[in-house]
Amino acid sequence: MDKLAIEGGRTLSGEVRISGAKNAALPILCASLLAAEPVNLENVPDLKDVRTMLALLEQMGMRAETSGGAMSLDATHVDNPVAPYELVKTMRASILVLGPLLARFGTATVSLPGGCAIGARPVDQHIRGLQAMGAHIELAHGYIEARATRLKGAHIVTDMITVTGTENLLMAAVLADGETVLENAAREPEVGDLAHLLVAMGAKIDGIGTDRLVIQGVEKLHGAYHTVIADRIEAGTFLCAVAAAGGDVTLRQVRPHTLDAVISKLREAGVTIEEGDDWLRVRMNRRPHAVAVRTSEYPAFPTDMQAQFMALNAIAKGSAQVVETIFENRFMHVQELNRLGAHITVDGNTAFVTGMPALSGATVMATDLRASASLVIAGLCAQGETLVDRIYHLDRGYDRMEDKLTRIGANVRRVSANAGGRA
Ligand code: EPU
Repeated sequence: MDKLAIEGGRTLSGEVRISGAKNAALPILCASLLAAEPVNLENVPDLKDVRTMLALLEQMGMRAETSGGAMSLDATHVDNPVAPYELVKTMRASILVLGPLLARFGTATVSLPGGCAIGARPVDQHIRGLQAMGAHIELAHGYIEARATRLKGAHIVTDMITVTGTENLLMAAVLADGETVLENAAREPEVGDLAHLLVAMGAKIDGIGTDRLVIQGVEKLHGAYHTVIADRIEAGTFLCAVAAAGGDVTLRQVRPHTLDAVISKLREAGVTIEEGDDWLRVRMNRRPHAVAVRTSEYPAFPTDMQAQFMALNAIAKGSAQVVETIFENRFMHVQELNRLGAHITVDGNTAFVTGMPALSGATVMATDLRASASLVIAGLCAQGETLVDRIYHLDRGYDRMEDKLTRIGANVRRVSANAGGRA
């Protein structure tokens, strides 16, 4: 397994181009199942999760061509609407094929994702919503077996705000017979990006960006062109890296307003941030102040930035509470940060962080994607060398992070599992 070796203590300067959003690209790839014509995409990030999703779609019969960040997907010949356990267990987002398969083919067999490192994460809301649209669903042998002649429009109020749940039901509703109203819909920009692609494919959706989506089902969808939105979490991670390590970095190809909650917390920490239409300049030349953080649904502070702010608070002046309200088990980075000399205790869904003047490099283990990012940030400001093990988690969701960090002056290198030596 590859590791990342980080020599801490360097400030960061230069420019970083932010990639397309993982959590927009994944549902968008699945949306291409809805038409028997090519969907042409730009700004698709080069990530392990995107390759896994492509492999899943290809084994269903999808034809795909990729070139750099461009991808053309043609679902004309899809004839195997099955998502096997072997692929779903490696990536929960595979559940996103359920809605589109059922809507276009009237049948779908999708493995239940099961638990994951950041919590139980059930998919009951996806299933309940599809049942409300008339689907017959059986759970057998670890699989969701769904059938429908044609889905029917329905009024659906989900019990909680769910991002992939909203996306699955939206993709099902666009081909359903009649009107579907999705109440309590997730407002995340990635949901909006998916909705914009669906509209470009001929779907009729009102209320994009709000918590009430109204969809008039159509008979069929056609091909489309679409550019995936910028990854706000990748951008937020680089903002945090500069806030923690110090420096002067400009992020290009970002959507600053999708980061409002993150930017306002960073300003509270003492970071200087200037913003333009599609860029952000972040400057920091002192120790940050600790800032209290409480995760919530968009537009509030994202759970996907919680771990990175924990790393920032770990080296800040003062102390702060970090409250996680979305996932019940998303503090696994805490004990690893403590191995680097952080002072963090956890009680239930609240972490108490007392900032330390310095961290000291050590070998630490990545446990999930954003936990990995927090360890990298901590490593950038720790004294000496930090070795982050199991960085396959990082590769799932960050497009060449070590190259981007190296270009802005960090001393980071990948130690390949088969390189021998110390790793
Ligand atoms: N939930 C249920 N039942 C459901 C669906 C969700 O109980 O049927 C619960 C979950 O267990 C959780 C809460 O509702 O406690 C919210 O979960 P949500 O469904 O919104 O999460 P998700 O759709 O599985 C997406 C992102 C995550 C991100 C969350 C929250 C994708 C592919 N994944 O997950 O991204 O943390 O929304 O914003 O979009 C990441 O990128 O590192 C990542 C984990």
